[in-house]
Amino acid sequence: MEQLKLLDSRTSGSHSNDTRRLGARLPNRIVRGARRTFLEFFAGSGLVAEGLKGIFLPVWANDNCSKKAAVYIANHGHKHFQTCSIAEVGGASLPCAELAWASFPCQDLSLAGRSGGINGARSGLVWEWLRVIDEMPKRPSILVAENVLGLVSAAGGDNYRTLHRALIDRGYMVGAMMLDATRWLPQSRPRVFVVAVARSVEIPEELIGGEPGWIHPKAVCRVADRLDGWTWWRMPEPPKKESRLLDVIEWKAHFPDVETEQRNIKLISRRHRKQLDALSGDVVVPGYKRTRDGKQVLELRFDDVAGCLRTPDGGSSRQVLVIRKRQRIRSRLLTMREAARLMGAPERYKIPGSYNDGYRAMGDAVAVPVARWLARKLLLPLAIAADGR
Ligand SMILES: C[S@@+](CC[C@H](N)C(=O)[O-])C[C@H]1O[C@@H](n2cnc3c(N)ncnc32)[C@H](O)[C@@H]1O
Repeated sequence: MEQLKLLDSRTSGSHSNDTRRLGARLPNRIVRGARRTFLEFFAGSGLVAEGLKGIFLPVWANDNCSKKAAVYIANHGHKHFQTCSIAEVGGASLPCAELAWASFPCQDLSLAGRSGGINGARSGLVWEWLRVIDEMPKRPSILVAENVLGLVSAAGGDNYRTLHRALIDRGYMVGAMMLDATRWLPQSRPRVFVVAVARSVEIPEELIGGEPGWIHPKAVCRVADRLDGWTWWRMPEPPKKESRLLDVIEWKAHFPDVETEQRNIKLISRRHRKQLDALSGDVVVPGYKRTRDGKQVLELRFDDVAGCLRTPDGGSSRQVLVIRKRQRIRSRLLTMREAARLMGAPERYKIPGSYNDGYRAMGDAVAVPVARWLARKLLLPLAIAADGR
């Protein structure tokens, strides 16, 4: 455990230096740990691979969307990537890996009780994932399944309980947690991460607790109640975030024509307009257009955090920014680069394709620093523990 503590104190700095710093100071076993392997199912635009960079090496990944595949390949290369449906993947031919990550489709879990749930046509692809895992000659020691809060809260928790049971039956210890990107970035993006570890792994005591912690909000506690084989994962809290909405703004971005701008501004309710006018200095306030009492309004939020980025597929509108600079109020859609920044993607992250493609790719993804924190603080120590099996 001493080695883990060492690792922990040295991985809190900038991610690009991890491998070098670990290589310089740590024993061989942990140096190799910086390049542990992972398989990524439903890999989309590759933001999980970006978050795990230098900690877990992607040896295989897939997604069936060619536009997202283009983003993944532009940033992580094509050699280990397959553009195909998970239904076409056979586990027997996959490379061995310590970790398998699946951010499976959320559409059937997003709207409480109104869609197919964990057995729905899209979210039910999680069973294809487990089918592939079952076909592997050796199952990975660690599995991560990521999805929206509906996984634990919709249908009274039954969706989660079904998945939990399936993982327990495969010989894993399982627990879920909620991580909200707002801890790291100016975007509200609560997501559930289910972490399963082979029962044969001796889990370091620092990684499990006997009770809920900061990663276990009420919805998670409710679903955990009296559940067989539940594990209360423990991770340290991240330091207070430093980035603000003002930091993600592309100040030179193009504004639409004056008419569109004015139309948007007129949609702001009187109450929100008052709040906006009461703020001093340069101001950036995000909002979504919604229909309230049969009327379209632009609802703003004033907590210096953008609303959750979504794909436009579900019929939700795109996020609008109201920007006041030198007393002039203007409005425009979020740019693609701003969306990427809100997901924690580095500036060098390439997003080929149209605005819509890029917006969709970011809206569906996992925020980079969230994936990185989970990997550093829980998955890597678990992978090291799994070595000692
Ligand atoms: C929630 S997103 C995951 C995004 C990804 N983790 C990222 O950070 O960009 C779900 C992904 O599943 C993909 N998908 C949907 N159906 C699929 C299928 N049958 N086979 C493979 N991928 C599929 C979608 O294209 C989408 O990228």
